[in-house]
Amino acid sequence: MPKTNYFADSATSSIPLSLVPEDQAQAWLVAQGAAAQTWAKAQGWTGQLGKALVVTDTGEPIFAAIGMGVEQERHKKRFGAVSAIASLPSAVFNLLEDNIQTANEFALGFALSKYRYTRYASQAAHAAELICPVGVDKANINAIISGEFLTRDLINTPANDMGPSELEEEVRKLAKKHKATISVITGDALLKQNLPMIHAVGRASARAPRLIDMKWGDSGPSLTLVGKGVCFDTGGLNIKPGSSMGLMKKDMGGAAHVLGLAQMIMATNLKLRLRVLIPAVENAIGNSAFRPQDILTSRKGLTVEINNTDAEGRLVLADTLALADETPPDLMICIATLTGAARVAVGPDIAPYFTDDAGLSHVVATAAQNVSDPVWQLPLHAPYETMIEPGIADLDNAPKGGFAGAITAALFLKRFVSDTQKFIHFDCYGWQPSSAPARPKGGVGQGTRALFQAIPEVLKL
Ligand code: BES
Ligand code: ZN
Ligand code: ZN
Repeated sequence: MPKTNYFADSATSSIPLSLVPEDQAQAWLVAQGAAAQTWAKAQGWTGQLGKALVVTDTGEPIFAAIGMGVEQERHKKRFGAVSAIASLPSAVFNLLEDNIQTANEFALGFALSKYRYTRYASQAAHAAELICPVGVDKANINAIISGEFLTRDLINTPANDMGPSELEEEVRKLAKKHKATISVITGDALLKQNLPMIHAVGRASARAPRLIDMKWGDSGPSLTLVGKGVCFDTGGLNIKPGSSMGLMKKDMGGAAHVLGLAQMIMATNLKLRLRVLIPAVENAIGNSAFRPQDILTSRKGLTVEINNTDAEGRLVLADTLALADETPPDLMICIATLTGAARVAVGPDIAPYFTDDAGLSHVVATAAQNVSDPVWQLPLHAPYETMIEPGIADLDNAPKGGFAGAITAALFLKRFVSDTQKFIHFDCYGWQPSSAPARPKGGVGQGTRALFQAIPEVLKL
């Protein structure tokens, strides 16, 4: 379970730390006096983005600065300033920054960049610590960090230790921590409870499929989060080639995202009624596996022709969304590592989303900009509906040709949600391919910070 505080206490003795844009570096150095200028010259420091200047006296650091570069560069390199912490000595730094937006962003990036996945081997994170200036909303940042680290930990855990039952256990731990309630429908009970597609996708695995349902909060507007929890995606009988299967422990990334977001919401005690639904399955190969050309009847009654067992995410989500839709919330959010096509479209950094609600889209996109958590709307292009209609069943889970794969997957999901429901679906990647500022290589949350920022506005909290 993540910690609750990622910052040093203001009573601790510390080294002053300034954030200095490149065009102000000279003036800043002059104000600090001759020693700073000598040090800067010796270290070639001119306020470059992410470059640290540490001024010492007889070996002891006395003050420090981190270059903020120029504005254009800052846009190019999200959280670029925090790469400096790798070269800071192990000490407590007191952030001197009057601009609260800048201070907030730096503090967030600083804490995010200290993430390491340590379950199987110890990994040293940077030892520098930070005291935030007054005005920084530490409670808010701590909640965001704890949610994001939960997301990262869940994604990074390999499938042998993060199957459907272990994912359930993680939700139970989270529920216990926040006094939420949880109920789970497992194995053949999925059939009795009319969740046939979750059962069909998960039944070939030795590890029983399940639907996890967590509820928290007793007043305010209602929010339902649905997250794809495919603990490992072999592709099923339409087996994935090794190169594509290699990363598929992260196919429960949607679940990891909604749990991270739930942690942010519960830790800050937002006044809303939260429901989290996770279909947790393993898309395995076995003698009871579902097959190409099978026709499944979904919870909603729509029939689905299976044309690729690797398009399993939309199947488990379809039954879950139908269930979610039976108790319509004020806002429904779905997050899933749903298609390779989404990656081709926007690459690993950006979380594409789909919604018919222009107002909702605007709030989410604006929040994303504000918190440096990039998202991009893709269209629910209605004329492509014909692509998901095979003829002998209501729906096709894998249209031939693969044109607009992320859009057809989103259109498929939408068939299971009422037209009147405020609904947004994110097709996220959940993986940082190589280390970047604030994001070490591995599991990463995408769009959850944006959503956390947007939700109070959308639900008028
Ligand atoms: N889990 C994958 C999607 C995926 C692949 C996400 C790679 C991120 C990285 C999903 O279950 C899948 O395999 N989708 C297929 C659908 C196709 C068969 C219609 C895809 O995208 O290729
Ligand atoms: Zn798949
Ligand atoms: Zn999948």
